[in-house]
Amino acid sequence: MVQVHSSAPGKIILLGEHFVVYKNPAILAAINRRITVHLKPNGTHFTRIKAGLMELVVSASKRQLSKRRTHSNSFLYPVLSCIANIQYQMNDFSGLDVIIESQIPHGEGLGSSAASCVATVGAMRALYGEIDKPSICKNAAEAERIIHKNSSGADCYVSTFGGLIYYHPTRAYTHMNPKIKFRFLVCTTGIRHDTGKLVSRVKKFREEKLPIFAELAERARVICNDAKKAMDRGDQETLGKMMTENHELLMRLDVSHPKLEEFIDICMGNGALGGKLTGAGGGGSMIALIPNKKTDEIVSNIRKKIPHSVLVELDHDGLQVNQTLAPDNKF
Ligand code: MEV
Repeated sequence: MVQVHSSAPGKIILLGEHFVVYKNPAILAAINRRITVHLKPNGTHFTRIKAGLMELVVSASKRQLSKRRTHSNSFLYPVLSCIANIQYQMNDFSGLDVIIESQIPHGEGLGSSAASCVATVGAMRALYGEIDKPSICKNAAEAERIIHKNSSGADCYVSTFGGLIYYHPTRAYTHMNPKIKFRFLVCTTGIRHDTGKLVSRVKKFREEKLPIFAELAERARVICNDAKKAMDRGDQETLGKMMTENHELLMRLDVSHPKLEEFIDICMGNGALGGKLTGAGGGGSMIALIPNKKTDEIVSNIRKKIPHSVLVELDHDGLQVNQTLAPDNKF
């Protein structure tokens, strides 16, 4: 029996989150933290999805789950939807065993839901013998929209294709290749957020205070484009300043959190060149740009106060899929 193993990276957003939903540019990077999906037919009519302590067993012909928002639903529901939609297209309702392993904390702004959707769609497509990254990315973004219907789709793109990308307002993407390596420290607050609620909060802000939102979005657009030019020429100082200013704009949208502010102050007070929340905010994670000189000393000083902070590497592979023969009926 064939079993498929598929994995996709998480991401950080360097510039432009939230504003990207309204066709502003953004810069995102895939990081070396992955979600892996192992999937195989189980010979029954029930699909079992396991992710750590979370588990879901549903009839393979069932396409809908209760929309009650729980932590486990918000993670497993899009995964189930990826599976059910593809099975529906293929008119195949055989049960599957699905195991999800994650190196990305869920609900902390590092792209766990996009990576789980990309890896699941990749695994499903491989099961039916076709791996086409653009269409995998499209299906994964559709599933992510179950959780927040205004998703820009940028998280799924960077998870599918990997690398460092500039997302255009026209919804096209450019892969960036800066002259130097930029080092980002990721600090998770441990405070889970609900991306859908934060995106709705910004939507409400925009509806109620359109002129202010338009001004902030215009500044975010200029900052993002200046940051891209700074990265292209290898200018760490300017990139850092742009990131910090971007965070101030996000504070004005009311998507920051006291813990993020505390972490940003710690990073900036210890030599980071820039710091901002990354992803939806409201808890979640922040990133700091660490200079290429005295990197170890700066990181070690920050770690004295934020011990679980991690210097991430960029991922250039994006979605990876392979198939093996299952030796027996168990993973
Ligand atoms: C979430 O990782 C990024 C947001 O900009 C939402 C989106 O782009 O869909 C907050």
